[in-house]
Amino acid sequence: PSRPRALSGIQPTAGSFHLGNYLGAIRQYVALQESHDAFYMVVDLHAITVPQDPATLRENTRVAAAQLLAAGLDPDRCTLFVQSHVPEHAQLGWVMNCLTGFGEASRMTQFKDKSARHGADRTTVGLFTYPVLQVADILLYQANHVPVGEDQRQHVELTRDLAERFNGRFGDTFAIPDAYIVKETGKIYDLQDPTIKMSKSASTPKGIINLLDEPKVSAKKIKSAVTDTGTEIRFDEENKPGVSNLLTIYATLTGTTIAELEAKYQGKGYGALKTDLAEVMAEWVAPFRDRTREYLDDPAMLDKVLAQGAEKARAVAGETLALAYDKIGF
Ligand code: ADP
Ligand code: NA
Repeated sequence: PSRPRALSGIQPTAGSFHLGNYLGAIRQYVALQESHDAFYMVVDLHAITVPQDPATLRENTRVAAAQLLAAGLDPDRCTLFVQSHVPEHAQLGWVMNCLTGFGEASRMTQFKDKSARHGADRTTVGLFTYPVLQVADILLYQANHVPVGEDQRQHVELTRDLAERFNGRFGDTFAIPDAYIVKETGKIYDLQDPTIKMSKSASTPKGIINLLDEPKVSAKKIKSAVTDTGTEIRFDEENKPGVSNLLTIYATLTGTTIAELEAKYQGKGYGALKTDLAEVMAEWVAPFRDRTREYLDDPAMLDKVLAQGAEKARAVAGETLALAYDKIGF
């Protein structure tokens, strides 16, 4: 292929993506449509690692796809699909499970965090092996670049290790992917506790901006963001994590640099910064919500996009799986 491949996936849970998902991952999905042969999926197989209500899961999957389109994914320039529509993910996932060491899987920090949150008796084997399914997700598309947030770096490392292991044992089969993490936005922090990442599971409602929230709700959360006892508006992640997080969000949403913002707010207080950013956020959220609604109001169109996406994805995934099965001796 003349263009490098990109692949990423996002869970359909919780109904709305948050600002960390957008700045850390989805924004890069949109950008890589231009330079890459890009595949993006709503990972409903990953969602069932914790209990799901069927009707809610089905609805959340559609809302997730609608949000990805609203954020700027264009089905003419990328392949957008739902993971469960492409059975090859589960098939190659099993193969990868059989190549992964139990100790190796046990070192995945996301599993440790998530299982601690759910409690031992609600932790499934699926949650334990979900990073290995993610390995299959990536390798099926011979992906070169995987746009994700910083928290996913370890899983892309596992993917590289398993691709190399498979290639070493059975002969050259899989491309070795690199994580594509934008340094500035790879970790967006919680607005109330800027030492932890903004996260649907760990953040309190005031600490997280959900993209489908009312614009005035998002604005209010920005205005009550935790800063520090100083007054100076300066990017300093160690001493001013709250202000630095707001500057990162502001710079990225408006296409300005941190230095320009520091100059703009020299001699002004945190209140001025927050008021302006609240407005920027509200202006971003309003059209995003409208576009998401438009996609959801046209179910036939959404179905068509996802069906065509699944067909394009299966053509690539099927070819890779056939190659891998042949090498294994199936
Ligand atoms: P969450 O971490 O809230 O459970 P997901 O696991 O569904 O969200 O993450 C989807 C994508 O968004 C992943 O690529 C992940 O790395 C990225 N992401 C999640 N939270 C953040 C954050 N706070 N900052 C940057 N990227 C993030
Ligand atoms: Na995550």
